[in-house]
Amino acid sequence: MLKRTHNCGQLRIEDVDKKIVLAGWVKSYRDHGGLVFIDLRDREGITQLVFNPETQPKAHELARTARDEWVIAAEGTVKPRGEGLENPKLLTGQIEIVVSELEVLNVSKTPPFEMENAEKTNEEIRLTSRYIDLRRPQMQQKMKVRHQVTKIVRDYFDKLGFWEIETPMLAKSTPEGARDFLVPSRLVKNAFYALPQSPQLFKQILMVSGVDKYFQIVRCFRDEDPRADRQAEFTQIDVEASFVDCDDIITVHEKMIAEIWKKILNVDISVPIRRMTYKDAINDYGIDRPDLRFDMKLKDISDIAADSDFKVFASIVKKGGIVKGLCATGGGDKYSRSDIEKTMTAFVADYGAKGLAWLKVKAEDGKIILASSIAKFFKPEQLEEIAKRFDAKDGDLLLFVADIPSTVNKALAPLRCRLGRELNLYEEGVFEFVWVVDFPLFEWNENEKRYDSLHHPFTSPTIEDTEKLDTDPANINSQAYDLVVNGSEVGGGSIRIHNSKIQRKVFKILNISDEQATQQFGFFLKALEYGAPPHGGIAFGLDRLIMLLTGTENIRDVIAFPKTQRGQCLMSNAPSLVDPKQLEELNLRTQKHSHQIEKKNGDKK
Ligand code: AMO
Ligand code: AMP
Repeated sequence: MLKRTHNCGQLRIEDVDKKIVLAGWVKSYRDHGGLVFIDLRDREGITQLVFNPETQPKAHELARTARDEWVIAAEGTVKPRGEGLENPKLLTGQIEIVVSELEVLNVSKTPPFEMENAEKTNEEIRLTSRYIDLRRPQMQQKMKVRHQVTKIVRDYFDKLGFWEIETPMLAKSTPEGARDFLVPSRLVKNAFYALPQSPQLFKQILMVSGVDKYFQIVRCFRDEDPRADRQAEFTQIDVEASFVDCDDIITVHEKMIAEIWKKILNVDISVPIRRMTYKDAINDYGIDRPDLRFDMKLKDISDIAADSDFKVFASIVKKGGIVKGLCATGGGDKYSRSDIEKTMTAFVADYGAKGLAWLKVKAEDGKIILASSIAKFFKPEQLEEIAKRFDAKDGDLLLFVADIPSTVNKALAPLRCRLGRELNLYEEGVFEFVWVVDFPLFEWNENEKRYDSLHHPFTSPTIEDTEKLDTDPANINSQAYDLVVNGSEVGGGSIRIHNSKIQRKVFKILNISDEQATQQFGFFLKALEYGAPPHGGIAFGLDRLIMLLTGTENIRDVIAFPKTQRGQCLMSNAPSLVDPKQLEELNLRTQKHSHQIEKKNGDKK
């Protein structure tokens, strides 16, 4: 077998006349009346091979049989391409290999999709034949960036004295708010492991163990419906450290992010990254992960609405609701009445809004005029005040939602993002980072009439607010922080509770009884009683970071073997039915299996 000497992205004009061997996949084949050209591809690039029937008839004859995606090795000499035949798009575009010997290492069936047009191919086909999809340079680049990022992260933490420690995959359920994936135990009958939603409790226990600085690049499992930026199986950069405060964690990690962005994209992220309180984020952007690539802040006009003759607004404000809106720059010129009243109204309705009121902004004789069917319900000075509040300009569009605050914010936040995109209010390739801080510790869950943790139950209240645990849980600030980039939450963490009494108090507020707490987290609460140091940490979504770094909108594209919306691996066909014998060993029966057994017993009778 020919022994490879170089890769397909390596040879340059300086290598002319070298005798080399390349190996790879046939990307394309052209027969130019005599000369045969093959573009040979491996993960490093593409090199053109030339087969001459006169000088090397045997290799030429064999080359004529080659087809796309065959695996070949070719020995030959590096030659400059003829004048005007260089390909500036290829790193190797100035040279070609004049082949003297060709070896076919393996043949290939015709791929089930055209690799050049894979982006347009049905994703299911790509996922079913993932080995071919991953062979594409675009996918290889993503895998490479992922490797580079994990390497940067490992080196970064190593230098700072963090240890990478593995925590169990077969674990006990940790509450991160999602459903657990369960794994039945064979040896302990009727008992189940849970795959970790995160290593939260284990990393905190490592702090009790005096590990001091821990990190792990770790797989996490959450049985929730996958979305464009969510997979049931995903990877975290998980970190925890002892004797630290919020600023310590934020500083270490913004430097890590800056180093990743510099090394991968050569982009300078200025640190410290700005910070925004949760309250400001909700007020100004309607969401705790604001996209700051464009301005378009939400403004409250409840005061004006209450005094207006527009009954819809006035009555909602009277009942304790609010009216908030935004000014879509250039939206008045771009959107028709039907765009607003049909498409956009349906869009916000999906988020619970009962309507979408609007005013178009025009400048007439230097004066700003607001016009629509609702304008008549406002006095001229009220319209003037609205225009002023939004700094509305000729050609803009004002859009409003009235409801309880949570509904207003839930509807306007995605509308704002959609408008920002549609009105081209930002450039692609820009990154706007922000730390969102000062989260409340709890959030009232109206449906279930109880408090939920905004982060997770192990997050510490601020020292000043700790005493409010007994008196005023609704108004406690937490020591939590999220890192947000372009509207995507890429990381989140907190300083933790290290006192078992406070931890029990928090469980109680969350409606977790002492008994439940002991049963679920007894081991953890006990550990806190044996000299737990003050500690805190954070976890980043590695997949989401790679999406940003590679400009990808689909999380599946940055994971080598992802799952579909239904949680399936189309290539290997997981999840799949198992042999009934395996179930018996586990003391389990599926409904289908039970039916089969019943049927068999019935047949016997
Ligand atoms: P959290 O649940 O916020 O915190 O997760 C941390 C980060 O992980 C990413 N992430 C996901 N990425 C892809 N698919 C998912 N289903 C998914 N879920 C979360 C997000 C998120 O910011 N134990 C805590 C961290 C801590 O407190 O230290 C935790 O897991 O980018
Ligand atoms: P109506 O009087 O219900 O026909 O509504 C008149 C206008 O107000 C329409 O453009 C509706 O979309 C809008 N509207 C109705 N309810 C709301 C609401 N809760 N928030 C914002 N606009 C609304």
